[in-house]
Amino acid sequence: MIVDERITDYINSLVQELPPSLRELEKTALLEGVPIIRKETQTFLKVLITMKQPKKILEVGTAVGFSALFMSEYMPEDCTITTIEKMQVRLEKAKKNFSNVNSKEKITLLEGDALVILGNLAKNEPFAYDFIFMDAAKAQYMNFLPEIMKLLPVGGILITDNVLQDGTVAESRYSITRRDRTIHSRMREYLFALTHMEEMETSVVPIGDGVTVSVKIK
Ligand SMILES: C[S@@+](CC[C@H](N)C(=O)[O-])C[C@H]1O[C@@H](n2cnc3c(N)ncnc32)[C@H](O)[C@@H]1O
Repeated sequence: MIVDERITDYINSLVQELPPSLRELEKTALLEGVPIIRKETQTFLKVLITMKQPKKILEVGTAVGFSALFMSEYMPEDCTITTIEKMQVRLEKAKKNFSNVNSKEKITLLEGDALVILGNLAKNEPFAYDFIFMDAAKAQYMNFLPEIMKLLPVGGILITDNVLQDGTVAESRYSITRRDRTIHSRMREYLFALTHMEEMETSVVPIGDGVTVSVKIK
C-alpha cells in the first residue's frame, strides 16, 4: 500500500458503483486471485479516457478482460480496444467475458507474447493507438517500450500500471530481497527511461500500485 490505507479507503468510498456485470466480474476475479486494476486506478483510468476521447486503445495484459470491459464502458462510441494476453487459462476466461455482441464488436483479443505481437502491430499499424494501457509483466516493460513508441502517435497517452510495486521501488536495492532485485532494477530502469525521454512528458502518480501517465510530445 503506497498511500495510507485510511485515505485509500476513504477515496474508494467515494467511487461510484460499477455497472452490475463489471461488479460481478470484479468480484469473481478477486476471489480467484486474478490481479485486476484496483478501484482507485479504475477511476483514474476512467477520467483519462474521458479526457482523451481515444479512437483506438491498446492494452498489454488482458487477464480475464476486466480492465478492457471497464474501458469499453467509458470510451467513445466509435473507439475500439485491442488487448493482448498469453496465459491460456486467462485467455479462455477473457473470450467468455467478451462473448456478448457488443464486446465482440469493440474488443479484439490477440493471443500470444506481447513482445512479438507489439512488433507485428508496430509494422502493420504504426502510430495507430492513441491510448495505450500497459499492465503486463513488469520486468518486460523496458523491452516493450521501443515498440510502444512506434505505436503511439504524437498526442497519444501511455498509462503504465504497478510501477511503484507497493512502494518497494523507492527502497534501496540492498533492502530488497535477492529474489525481487531483478524486478526492482528493471522497474527503476523503466521509470528513469520514461521520465527522461525527449519524446514523452511523464508523471509518476502514487495511486493504486503506482501509475505513470505519459503524453507523447515528439
Ligand atoms: C495484471 S494482469 C492484467 C490485468 C488486467 N489489465 C485487468 O486489470 O483486468 C497482467 C496480465 O498480463 C499477462 N502477461 C504478462 N506478460 C505477458 C506477455 N509478455 N505477453 C502477453 N501477456 C502477458 C499475464 O498473463 C496477466 O494475465
